[in-house]
Amino acid sequence: MEKIEAVLKEERVFQPSEDFRQAARIRRLEDYEALYRESLQEPEKFWSRVASELHWFKPWDKVLEWNPPNAKWFIGGQLNLSYNCLDRHLATRGNKAAIIFEGEPGDSRILTYQQLHREVSKFANVLKGLGVRKGDRVTIYLPMIPEAAIAMLACVRIGAVHSVVFGGFSASALADRINDAQAKVLITADGGWRRGNVVPLKVNSDEALADAKSVEQVVVVRRTGHEVPMERGRDHWYHELMASASPDCPPEPMDAEDPLFILYTSGSTGKPKGVLHTTGGYSVYTYLTAQYIFDLKESDTYFCTADVGWITGHSYVVYGLLQNGATTLMYEGAPNTPDEGRIWSIIEKYSVSILYTAPTAIRAFMKWGEQWPLKYNLSSLRLLGSVGEPINPEAWFWYYKVIGKERCPIVDTWWQTETGGIMITTLPGVHPMKPGHAGKPFFGVQPEIVDTSGQPVNNPDEGGHLIIQKPWPSMLRTVWGDPERFERQYFSQYPGNYFTGDGARRDEDGYYLILGRVDDVLNVSGHRLGTMEVESALVSHPAVAEAAVVGRPDPIKGEGIVAFVTLKTGFSPSAELAQELKAHVVKAIGAIARPDEIRLTDALPKTRSGKIMRRLLRQVASGEEIKGDTSTLEDRGVVERLKSTPAQ
Ligand code: PRX
Repeated sequence: MEKIEAVLKEERVFQPSEDFRQAARIRRLEDYEALYRESLQEPEKFWSRVASELHWFKPWDKVLEWNPPNAKWFIGGQLNLSYNCLDRHLATRGNKAAIIFEGEPGDSRILTYQQLHREVSKFANVLKGLGVRKGDRVTIYLPMIPEAAIAMLACVRIGAVHSVVFGGFSASALADRINDAQAKVLITADGGWRRGNVVPLKVNSDEALADAKSVEQVVVVRRTGHEVPMERGRDHWYHELMASASPDCPPEPMDAEDPLFILYTSGSTGKPKGVLHTTGGYSVYTYLTAQYIFDLKESDTYFCTADVGWITGHSYVVYGLLQNGATTLMYEGAPNTPDEGRIWSIIEKYSVSILYTAPTAIRAFMKWGEQWPLKYNLSSLRLLGSVGEPINPEAWFWYYKVIGKERCPIVDTWWQTETGGIMITTLPGVHPMKPGHAGKPFFGVQPEIVDTSGQPVNNPDEGGHLIIQKPWPSMLRTVWGDPERFERQYFSQYPGNYFTGDGARRDEDGYYLILGRVDDVLNVSGHRLGTMEVESALVSHPAVAEAAVVGRPDPIKGEGIVAFVTLKTGFSPSAELAQELKAHVVKAIGAIARPDEIRLTDALPKTRSGKIMRRLLRQVASGEEIKGDTSTLEDRGVVERLKSTPAQ
């Protein structure tokens, strides 16, 4: 414990190595500062310069129009993101690896830019053949295999709006997302490999489609090779459709503000929201952030461990990297299959130079022991990244020493599904690193820390709400089908400013330290989950009267899920019922939402006005002393009873 306390108080500052700095794209603090200043004072000039490095069918007339909460970027411009990811590189990088794929069973494939261009063009024609038109929605429910990237890029090529659903989500979560987007086509696989088991994606898809009638056609990729039911007229094998598809598919010129993709994420209500990103701004911002923050060089091999089902997979497995002509590595499976050295063996095998992963993974690596990475040659690594949740200094040091050998800078990148790209980080060749602090705002990003009345908190190290004051190119444009929710959720607390939902502090050097969510959103292993989402899954079980879900600190996952549940008359608490409820949540949402603990209790702590006192539940869940005012409780005895209910 003492050791942990000591590292939490760590205030050491780490400089990038001189070698790294000398070779970095941006290496002088003055250059960062000048560019940052320009990006805020003359955003038109700054973003025009960046955007003109990409290919446009038609140049924009105006860089930005800002009528809060609605931003429009590169108005009048026309481009296609698949063109910028593929066609643009054919002349100079045609035979360079675009995607290196490593399957869990050990199979591997490399797709050059030429090959990827061909596969994407063919699949784009397949989609057209299935009746997909510009603006139609296509749901993608695939494992981490190249076809996931191919499907995304093929949608983008013809102007269809993709909605990727993480393969770990259940049939019912998939159905909700298909219904919300009213997707016309679903792209899935017979299965994917995870810890040697088959993830039953097609079986889940069939179950989902029973409740999701908008889908007319299903494309099934053969991955695991086991038998799956195929419905005549509706289901088609990917390889069969591809066999006769033409490789010639000119990209659709898209307006900069045309919808690009929808990605569902959890908020503070029970229903996940479809975050909408549009074409121009998202392209430009992910292109620039990937280039500078990962300091991309022509020779890099970049490996991000995120699944394409999350925003990290969209922006920093696929789009940001391919727009830069980089080589991106996709790994299908679990980090401990066949053993705990898998990630390090992949790095050695492909000479990976940049690794981007999450603190929860780093903590698992620490638990498994440094003997695993020490078995492999990691000398190809030159830069490390972290994303998804605050990185505790202990994990930071481990990453820095054991993986980076004190040679590789670490970028601790703060951002969100809604922000589209990285917002706060150090630039690896410029900024000293402070473990636990994400760092400085990226170009064009103007964060502020405010109190609940919206007043800036100027005192260094005092906490407040993190807001972003100006629009940035890859800002979400709306919540799909619910513009009112978009405004209420993000722009109503601090009118004219984007509210992140996170708490943060800023030190005297202007470094931001993210404190975590201030709303009812949990961060479990770097995955966002709404407490209400888990609660509504629980109350849909016939035995449950009421449920309240809270997070509690977890040494590996960051946050664990504890559910307090009262039962309807006629049901009595038992370990079996608790297990059944956990399985019920997994069925409703997916394994990532499985409660770590269920407490079947006779009452929840409520105020006289009927509001559940979550603060008390959090204290009970983490075994803390009950602190703070309990005088408003309707039934004072409830806390003692809660403490004595068995955790199951
Ligand atoms: O709380 C912050 C946390 O993850 C949230 C966003 O989750 P999601 O939309 O799923 O995107 C995750 C990947 C970009 C944020 O509101 N978060 C993300 N990165 C960091 C972080 N918290 C602290 N430090 C980070 N580097």
